[in-house]
Amino acid sequence: MPEDTVTVIDNRTGRQIELPVRTATMGPDAVDIGRFFRELGYFTYDPGFLSTASCHSKLTYLDGKQGMLMYRGYPIEQLAEHSSFIEVAHLMLYGELPKRQQLEDFNSIITHHSMLNEALKSFFRGFYHDAHPMAIMVGVVGSLSAFYHDSTDISNPVHREIAAHRLIAKMPSIAAASYKHSIGEPQVYPDNSLSYVGNLLHMMFSVPCEKFEADPVAEKALDLIFILHIDHEQNASTSTVRLAGSSGANPFACIASGIAALWGPAHGGANEAVLSMLEKIGDVKNIPAYLARAKDRDDPFRLMGFGHRVYKNYDPRARIIREMCHEVLAKLGNENDPLFELALKLEEIALSDDYFIERKLYPNVDFYSGLIYKALGIPTNMFTVMFSIARTVGWVAQWMEMISEKNQRIGRPRQLYVGETRRDYVPIDQR
Ligand code: CMC
Repeated sequence: MPEDTVTVIDNRTGRQIELPVRTATMGPDAVDIGRFFRELGYFTYDPGFLSTASCHSKLTYLDGKQGMLMYRGYPIEQLAEHSSFIEVAHLMLYGELPKRQQLEDFNSIITHHSMLNEALKSFFRGFYHDAHPMAIMVGVVGSLSAFYHDSTDISNPVHREIAAHRLIAKMPSIAAASYKHSIGEPQVYPDNSLSYVGNLLHMMFSVPCEKFEADPVAEKALDLIFILHIDHEQNASTSTVRLAGSSGANPFACIASGIAALWGPAHGGANEAVLSMLEKIGDVKNIPAYLARAKDRDDPFRLMGFGHRVYKNYDPRARIIREMCHEVLAKLGNENDPLFELALKLEEIALSDDYFIERKLYPNVDFYSGLIYKALGIPTNMFTVMFSIARTVGWVAQWMEMISEKNQRIGRPRQLYVGETRRDYVPIDQR
């Protein structure tokens, strides 16, 4: 018997098959069950993908037990300390850290794609003033394919690359315009002399009648948060982008589907939910009551920003953001932000509680990020939008990786049907 197979014995029929094992460079190997149905006549059943690898990828590796995250093999801590969002974006798209000239060229390309088609402005005006900015993001990003026909031929690698550049470049402009719409201020054009995040802050917070200069502390903090959010292997939104992309849908539509999936409170919407939760808890004395609710199976309340499908240890991104919180709040003069104090206390109490210890529930990336956004003056309903800007790099990198694969096929899960068996139509007066 070859070494790298797994034997499956069907105890019902006595049939036995050998399934090949695909080897990972890091982490668990995967049993290839592609022949399973053909040979044994069964589907495999794994709702929530607890044991199922939906693809192979060279982009991101995370080890949940160790609390370790790497992009293209580089530990997140090193990228957070030494790199920049644009440099990491290059790494994700092209596989290597750029040389100086490559970085300059890439930065210039992204900078020069940041303007939006003027006709897009009317899309924003079509939204009611109190529309959630994520609703605007889904709609406007999805509409980009109607404007940029020269980058929707997914069989053409040049089109794919231009679409990737456009998406990364235009996300801050769309995000800022969504925000401006919600507060009734004029949209601000990008300024090519600014950095990626500097430009985002400029488009969000400047007004035509006044000079604006982004605080370098805010710029640095946002750049770092964006690096941490770039990719996280096959999470719900990334899997959504891949599934949409597998049908041949255009890249703008695929990223819009990712934004929609990100919005949910169990995923990217958690950063917004954390802040609302902290505001509701209000005071350290109320923490035990909220923890009791989080532990009660009959209560839908969960401790937002806690727990993760893969991390059964401290999320390394949360550790970096927690450190940054101290630094940013001190520099911006909000060191004694009562919500930060409350968050630290909540973490401390939860981490010493048996319920959280037994289930290995630790703070995730969303637990502290909202506090930094708040300190930067970013309103709560823009938190998930911030996440979506950074995650666009991961989404497009994953999409490009998938589309450039040989023999790429449409994603089409099976199901375990548990509904009615065949029955005949009953006329309405006989029911
Ligand atoms: N508060 C209270 N209990 C929790 C929590 C929580 N935040 N998270 C998990 N549990 C419990 C859960 O009730 C279950 O208990 P039991 O074994 O008694 O039934 C156990 O822990 C395992 O949880 P699960 O729901 O099976 O875990 P999952 O992998 O399906 O869900 C999760 C992961 C992130 C959706 C979940 O932990 C959660 O809802 N967390 C709060 C929302 C959140 O912070 N989401 C952000 C995730 S990280 C960033 C991102 O993906 O965008």
